[in-house]
Amino acid sequence: MTSTNDIRRSFLDYFAGQGHKEVASAPLVPFSDPTLMFVNAGMVPFKNSFTGLETPPAPRATSAQKCVRAGGKHNDLDNVGYTARHHTFFEMLGNFSFGDYFKEQAIHHAWTLLTKEWGLDPERLLVTVYHTDDEAFELWKKLTGFADEKIIRIPTKDNFWAMGSDGPCGPCSEIFYDHGDHIWGGPPGSPEEDGDRFVEIWNLVFMQFTQEADEIVGDLPKPSIDTGMGIERVAAVMQGVHDNYDTDTFKALIAASEGLTGVKAEGDRTASHRVIADHLRSTSFLLADGVLPSNEGRGYVLRRIMRRAMRHAHLLGADKPLMHRLVPELVSEMGAAYPELVRGQALIQEVLEREETQFRRTLDKGLRLLDEETGDLGEGGTLPGETAFKLYDTYGFPYDLTEDALRSRGIGVDREGFDAAMAQQKAAARAAWKGSGEAASDEVWFDIAEREGSTEFTGYSSTTGEAAVVAIVKDGAEVDRAAAGDQVIVLTNQTPFYGESGGQTGDAGRIWTPDGLEFAVETTNKPLGRLHAHVGKVIKGEVKVGDAVHLQIDADRRDRIRANHSATHLVHAALRNALGEHVTQKGSLVADDRFRFDFSHPKPLSAEEIADIEAEVNAEIRANEQVSTRLMTPDDAVAAGALALFGEKYGDEVRVLSMGRKPDGSRNFSVELCGGTHVEATGDIGLFHIVSESAVSSGVRRIEALTGDAARRWLLARDEAVKAIASALKTAPDDAAARVTALVEERKRLEKELAEAKRALALGGGGAGPAQAADEDIGGVTFSGQTIEGLDPKELRPLLDEAKSRIGSGIAAICAVNDGKAAFAVAVTDDLIGRFSAVDLVRKGVEALGGKGGGGRPDMAQGGGPDGSQADAAIAAVREALSAG
Ligand code: SER
Repeated sequence: MTSTNDIRRSFLDYFAGQGHKEVASAPLVPFSDPTLMFVNAGMVPFKNSFTGLETPPAPRATSAQKCVRAGGKHNDLDNVGYTARHHTFFEMLGNFSFGDYFKEQAIHHAWTLLTKEWGLDPERLLVTVYHTDDEAFELWKKLTGFADEKIIRIPTKDNFWAMGSDGPCGPCSEIFYDHGDHIWGGPPGSPEEDGDRFVEIWNLVFMQFTQEADEIVGDLPKPSIDTGMGIERVAAVMQGVHDNYDTDTFKALIAASEGLTGVKAEGDRTASHRVIADHLRSTSFLLADGVLPSNEGRGYVLRRIMRRAMRHAHLLGADKPLMHRLVPELVSEMGAAYPELVRGQALIQEVLEREETQFRRTLDKGLRLLDEETGDLGEGGTLPGETAFKLYDTYGFPYDLTEDALRSRGIGVDREGFDAAMAQQKAAARAAWKGSGEAASDEVWFDIAEREGSTEFTGYSSTTGEAAVVAIVKDGAEVDRAAAGDQVIVLTNQTPFYGESGGQTGDAGRIWTPDGLEFAVETTNKPLGRLHAHVGKVIKGEVKVGDAVHLQIDADRRDRIRANHSATHLVHAALRNALGEHVTQKGSLVADDRFRFDFSHPKPLSAEEIADIEAEVNAEIRANEQVSTRLMTPDDAVAAGALALFGEKYGDEVRVLSMGRKPDGSRNFSVELCGGTHVEATGDIGLFHIVSESAVSSGVRRIEALTGDAARRWLLARDEAVKAIASALKTAPDDAAARVTALVEERKRLEKELAEAKRALALGGGGAGPAQAADEDIGGVTFSGQTIEGLDPKELRPLLDEAKSRIGSGIAAICAVNDGKAAFAVAVTDDLIGRFSAVDLVRKGVEALGGKGGGGRPDMAQGGGPDGSQADAAIAAVREALSAG
């Protein structure tokens, strides 16, 4: 038997041998496509290569692509389990030519592989072509020698393939396999075509056009080829079975579920085992690609698939969660081809077990309610929409689960009633909404959120993406379009732009289209906590609601933000290690050029504490440990040691960030709940440096710090400064500090010596004494008047006392001039106090100095003035007063 794994290998090897580059499957989430929920065909990751927007990986490529068809345009969920060929997850094998070969070679390769390499009987094969495609018809005829009725012309869309309403498209040719006349059905195009006898196994698309909104709008740059073969169908053919669920992979999964439940896949139990096997594949692959269960968008599709499988597990009588226990079998079947399953195994099992545990809490009650409400209904009856809504709202039954549960009894569900009940609940929620207080601006966000749902954030794993514009807000109101020069806010259905939250600043970048839109995103906000609002300006072109746009964040800036954000976690842990468990985060700001971290601690950090914290964080950075993210309930996360912000509201699922190992390898250095974006390994932070530590309020301290190149540049600037100082001091940088200390000491000593010298000079000591005043005789009174530059005013009194004792009887005046200002004092010997007052005399001098007042006692008074250049005039004013009096 040829196993599915062998078939995959053989397909890829055949085309590799024909010059095709083997390309790994892209993730299931099409970040590069706004119109698709999940990758649903092998060509999706190559869409831009066909249209010429991106350079293809090679002129020819081949891949085995994971696909999910559940939710969105292609939705096979409802049929899975009840038919032979419907799957929510399947693999598409494909070969692609990007303007290299075209129809003839594509047809030739397909025929060669099927009939020569794999040895399928040509008698069992037949093909279809688009009704106007004579060229394809002739090519098939020449190659196969088929009679005309085995090359069927199909006039419908079945033979004109398009990825979605927008994108590349073209006529196609399908290859069918005849499973034999023991199965009912007719060839394509016949009235019995819906039967199961003739099964399409390969679709060759001759890509030639591009379409927008389902209309052909132009030619592709070059005719190209996209083919798709469902591996499950071809495996059935090659393994001689008719039903995809009888192929090796499914048989192994079903055997595992039979083993764990103890229930054979027989009779009406078959569908349940099939549902479980199929849904196990889609849920595990989606989880491995980063989709998580939630109540909206992709996450809700995942949750619906999971819960559908979980109900079937319950139906089989599984008394405890089942799905996660089947994951090892899936990994052993498919892990070699898809290593992401192996990498994600722990997370997949964890999430499945948690979801199933939670869902089982309400499943029984919900099913009981369902039984009660349908007790009176017979086949053909309808369950009221309100009951379906109650099951949804209270018991977590997705709508399609309720439908599925009633299917075997032939009971339908009133969809309109369900929708009406849902709309009513939304209206009530809106009425109860208490916004941020800015009624008008909340209103617009609320409208958008209600209409469009939350923005899907794709930026944990990607820095670029494509999206559809769902709203444009200008001056607080929604508009349809915005043109060059307009300052607006653009909202898209998905985005890699992080919206400012949790202290992390919003992303900047650009939104653009190949036909000329250029929108500069200055920052991204997160109104209502669930919309990502790109704030910025239209630089060129026009943006309209409904446009498909490309988004590109400023990845370098984001890298710096990530490094800073991860550093806050390391600092938090290091602070607790150094200061104690009382340290908790009180706030943070994570920008691209710096970050700050506020925390509770009663006193300033000492220089040693700062140095220790810095050293510990840098050691963690150098250890370069992986940063890992897990998803848990908030309670489990806290139980696992995650630091949570007290008083913060968390959803039913939280991201838990773990960084670094303890030296003994026992546990992570830091474990925190965080929705932000982080480095992949701590080494990406590069370097960490604290630039300041200060108080924010009583009991709250703030650290400001830098990482990576910003830290390096800051330290470099400090180094340059030290070098400049050393060079001015004519010494080596290492000796600069000692040299400065010595200089300061020396300066103090010199200042002291200088003061002493000046005093000595004023007293006539030190020899010549040129500054000493010659005593004068003014009308019989001895007068000693003197101006001394640089004299400390404190010296005035002692100097005047000395002058008094020198002259015995008389008047002495000294003006000390410093920095252009003057201090002035006058002394009168006791015997003259009756005739002269020092106070009066000092005031005369002060006036000459441009000052006011002056005071003291009759024998000694002091004052000062701003104009030191008039020092001699002040002395002269006293001299004059003496002559007058
Ligand atoms: N895109 C085509 C399909 O999905 C062929 O690969 O059928």
